[in-house]
Amino acid sequence: MKGFVWLVGAGPGDPDLLTRKAARVIEEAELVLYDALVSNETLDLARRAQRFSVGKRAGKKSVDQETIHALMIRAARRGKRVVRLKGGDPFVFGRGGEEGLALARAGVPFEVVPGVSSAVAAPALAGIPLTHRGVASAFVVVSGHDPAAYRPVLGGMAPASATVVALMGLAGRRGLAAFLIDRGWSAATPAAVVLGASREEARVWTGTLADLPDALASPPIDDLPGTIVVGEVVSLAGVLGQMPFVHARPVAARAAVRFGAQ
Ligand SMILES: C[S@@+](CC[C@H](N)C(=O)[O-])C[C@H]1O[C@@H](n2cnc3c(N)ncnc32)[C@H](O)[C@@H]1O
Repeated sequence: MKGFVWLVGAGPGDPDLLTRKAARVIEEAELVLYDALVSNETLDLARRAQRFSVGKRAGKKSVDQETIHALMIRAARRGKRVVRLKGGDPFVFGRGGEEGLALARAGVPFEVVPGVSSAVAAPALAGIPLTHRGVASAFVVVSGHDPAAYRPVLGGMAPASATVVALMGLAGRRGLAAFLIDRGWSAATPAAVVLGASREEARVWTGTLADLPDALASPPIDDLPGTIVVGEVVSLAGVLGQMPFVHARPVAARAAVRFGAQ
């Protein structure tokens, strides 16, 4: 077979949440270039492949984007089956689009293998339905890392008109909470931080928008990736969730009554 690149989404971490196609192409790969959030259990499936970490790790420099493009293109031109493996879905805050464009420009055949994005997996695993009849009928996903990117989106919404999911938002949670409250969201709106969803260490913090800045101040956040969810639907975590809580405001108990789950 001629060289080929698969841009593969690895889901939130647990290999059981890979698609069947993702698992198959990983098992058959000869070269795997993976990001920091790809779990060891998932990498273990790449038994035949040379594996290289190209993602950002705390305190270390990541491989730059141009180098990643060059590595994929060179290996494919040498006839290799290349898997570019990313956490979640490759086209959700994953630079998968840029990599696809680089491959297309170079005339390298490639395919995207979608993954379960942490934007939906983390809330679901914590028992938070992003939409729930009578409570929320829309959700928006933003990068919490860059206020300039989320402000026009969230600032244009009526307060509490949709569930807000913020990826890459842990460090900026104070600014996000302040912005929403300033835009008219109630400070008592339920909020959650879902950490390490689908991993053994997974846990969830729930509280209110007002508490969010101090969420997880103690114990520390460690190295786990975290997804922030803001909206009434967070109240359901106490009823629908199986994930251990590091902190749960009484809001969870109230919700059980309000949503008729008792
Ligand atoms: C660079 S973005 C990549 C998103 C990825 N492409 C996706 O679709 O999930 C990384 C962010 O995803 C979220 N994330 C990734 N894995 C997670 C997990 N297992 N639990 C909670 N959040 C996670 C965190 O917000 C993290 O900062």
